[in-house]
Amino acid sequence: MRLASADQRELPALEKLGFVFESNPHHGCRLVKTPDKLIGDDLQARLNTRVIGTQVLVFEETASTNDAVLRMAGSGAKEGLVVFAESQTRGRGRHGRVWASPRGKGLWFSVLLRPKLAPVALTRLTVAASVAVARMVREFAGVETQIKWPNDVIVRGRKLAGILTEMHGAADEVRFAILGIGLDVNCRSEDLPAGVPATSLLIETGEMQDRAALAAAVLTALDEYYRLALENFDAVIEEWAQNCETLGRQLVVTMGARRIEGHAQALDGDGALLLRKDNGRIERIVGGDIVVEK
Ligand code: BTN
Repeated sequence: MRLASADQRELPALEKLGFVFESNPHHGCRLVKTPDKLIGDDLQARLNTRVIGTQVLVFEETASTNDAVLRMAGSGAKEGLVVFAESQTRGRGRHGRVWASPRGKGLWFSVLLRPKLAPVALTRLTVAASVAVARMVREFAGVETQIKWPNDVIVRGRKLAGILTEMHGAADEVRFAILGIGLDVNCRSEDLPAGVPATSLLIETGEMQDRAALAAAVLTALDEYYRLALENFDAVIEEWAQNCETLGRQLVVTMGARRIEGHAQALDGDGALLLRKDNGRIERIVGGDIVVEK
């Protein structure tokens, strides 16, 4: 890319951000390298979305992007705010687990949503987000992704991305929801948590991925699937069923001290998993940890 002379006044600031330019007396200035850095304005400029990305912020470090969005939601931030962090010191997963977020190696971000949904239907957001991430990663990096209900995107049985949806409001009304997504992009095996089958796009493809381009692609997909979650969830269920490793399997689900065993039949209209137990009764699962038996 060549720069017009007016743009060249911006060079020192861009070089500080890690852009590298080559100047030539005949051809002017040429961009030769973009930094492996997420920049809010750059991400926002890549988007042409309806809701997601009304504002895009990138923090160098924060405790948890879900908490950062929570603070801003309290002071009236608009739906669609996205907060990324290059690293998180207290990234968390479901059930209070730690989510490793090494600096500059993944996409660690949260989105503020104000959906007109009853609290019981909030699982729709997690399901829709998992379909969006699985699809976009497949298209972007060419790896075969699957979904493990409700919140994992997996590759070859290993976790690539996780989603943590946190609801704020009353029992009968959602004030807002925070969709937190962690996607292991350029992590090496030593960056991933020990004892959990996890992977990254670098491990799967053998190539460093362009995080900014991937971030914009994922936000674009999330925007589209958020609309579907609200307006045409059946279309999401259909795509989910095609890509889901959980469906049709014999499962053990643990919810606190409770352990339920059964056959994963389908998703219902709220995104809950319907499990057929050995006695033939259907159990609706809206949370818990799933172990696939066979
Ligand atoms: C899980 O699989 O258990 C969910 C993991 C969610 C991790 C993301 S990283 C960005 C956001 N901030 C957090 O603290 N957690 C989510």
